[in-house]
Amino acid sequence: MTGVTLSRWTLAYFAVALAALLAAEGLMSAGYGYPQTSISAPATLVLVHLVVLGWLSLLLCGALFQFVPVLVAKPLYSMLLSLPALGFLLLGIIALLSGFLHLSGVFEANLPFFPLASGLLVIGFGLVLWDLGLTLWNARPLTLPARFIVVGLCGLTATVGFGVMFALVLGGVIGGPVSMRLLADELPLHIVAGLGGWLTLSAMGVSYRLLAMFMLAPEQERTSSRGAFLLGASALGVIILGGGAAIALNYDSKSILLLGTVLGLAAVALYMYDIVHLYRARKRRVIELNSIMAMAAMASLVLAAVLIAILLAMGQLAHHASAVVFLVAFGWLSGLGLAMLYKIVPFLTWLECYGPILGKEATPRVQDLVEERHARKWFMFYFLGVWGAVAALLVDATAVFRIAAALMLVATAGIIIQLVRARRLDDVPISARFPTGSYRPRLFMTSIRPD
Ligand code: HEM
Repeated sequence: MTGVTLSRWTLAYFAVALAALLAAEGLMSAGYGYPQTSISAPATLVLVHLVVLGWLSLLLCGALFQFVPVLVAKPLYSMLLSLPALGFLLLGIIALLSGFLHLSGVFEANLPFFPLASGLLVIGFGLVLWDLGLTLWNARPLTLPARFIVVGLCGLTATVGFGVMFALVLGGVIGGPVSMRLLADELPLHIVAGLGGWLTLSAMGVSYRLLAMFMLAPEQERTSSRGAFLLGASALGVIILGGGAAIALNYDSKSILLLGTVLGLAAVALYMYDIVHLYRARKRRVIELNSIMAMAAMASLVLAAVLIAILLAMGQLAHHASAVVFLVAFGWLSGLGLAMLYKIVPFLTWLECYGPILGKEATPRVQDLVEERHARKWFMFYFLGVWGAVAALLVDATAVFRIAAALMLVATAGIIIQLVRARRLDDVPISARFPTGSYRPRLFMTSIRPD
């Protein structure tokens, strides 16, 4: 991947995202939001959106600005849009959380938080969609991982669409009993479009390419991968379009949601089949920590799929939806995100620092930028915390949930310290750290220099 342009603000996206994750874990361990309060309480809405927008969406946007050009082997449409997009998204998230806090009576200020949040988030995500969308459009015909991203971006559009509608109802801009009914009925569509469409399908697309690249596995377009794509895209289409139409026409949307869920589970099964193949076909014999931890994230996805199937069969899915959502958000998406960051941050740092002198001077290897012995325990604590929290949610053990969340908080802080060390090249012996012509990286920003 040498010769690839580095995305200037990707690390700033990662930094803000990690700060949001720490804040969310801190709040959960302090007993803020669900399960201490009800699932629909404003405090829970604050927590949920701190995680899904502040952490996961910013992480994914940052990663896509760097990796969509790699997936399509074409430069980003515009290098100028990622910073304003970050600014609008950040302000939009703050406005949305302020709106929820205002609902919970934390403060009095009577500002139009929800309309403001809607406008800022539409502009922020609009810039992301414009930049990535045109990059993908200019690179047609698309490879399979890139097609996953296209469907993921459609999921983002739907999520923001529903979210804005909800926000305008809560802000009193849209009113009446019909909008209240739509709000209740369409909430599952908003959640599926966000967690399943935007976050999961995009993560699948990026992981096909990145895992193959990091494990030196052959990148083939297999029938099963095409199947996973078609099933995943159909699941999203059935739930959003079919479910949306059923709700609008006042039909019962349950059977449509069930069909979409079955299609989604089949997509996960084929994706896992591919990932197992990728691990088996890898040329890198010794598996690095990031790939081992990606396996723990994939195991969480499988666990979530099995849990959904069991709870569905028992008619208990609605009752335990919080445990499933938690497992998807923290085990699968956040777990994969942290595991990938543990490779992406050293990799980008290595490219930035040593790229211009490769072949001219002796340089450290990418893996020399990290000390896996130190990071391993933090990742183990992280996944133990997540799985403990899911078990606690399933049996309604609130105190145990808070202890597990505290474990996740400590573990995340430990992982972040390792990422900062990689960025600062702290684990590279001082004598080898800066060969002549190499570059001292800055913490939150990648410098773009002519090679
Ligand atoms: C990845 C993106 C997103 C995901 C996964 C997501 C997920 C969720 C979830 C799980 C809930 C229900 C929470 C609960 O009942 O405690 C919810 C509700 C809500 N979301 Fe989002 N969300 C996303 C993006 C957005 C955006 C961009 C907006 C605003 C522009 C938004 C606005 C809302 C509002 C206003 C509600 C409350 C609806 C109600 O009162 O029932 N969401 N979202």
